[in-house]
Amino acid sequence: MKSILVEVCAGTHCTMMGAMNIMDAVHSLEEFQEDTPDMCDIQVRAIPCMNLCRDAAQGPFVRVDGKLIPQAESESVMAAIMARCHQLDGKE
Ligand code: FES
Repeated sequence: MKSILVEVCAGTHCTMMGAMNIMDAVHSLEEFQEDTPDMCDIQVRAIPCMNLCRDAAQGPFVRVDGKLIPQAESESVMAAIMARCHQLDGKE
């Protein structure tokens, strides 16, 4: 099964910048995915500070299959997940 790893930084800075809202949005997508067999399998993990937050304007940070998304928002993370899923689809 096509699987996508979404890592959401749960460090203090990223949490204050809205990382948990992103986490909630990805969890909602996970629930949706259970009813949608064609959808990629989404694994979401909270990870510790990636030490990228020295520049306070850049957070929150999320990685989608290793691709870093700075200043992440729910919409940009969803778009990255869907793009990655389509990309994996094309390879099969
Ligand atoms: S708290 Fe997210 S990179 Fe440091």
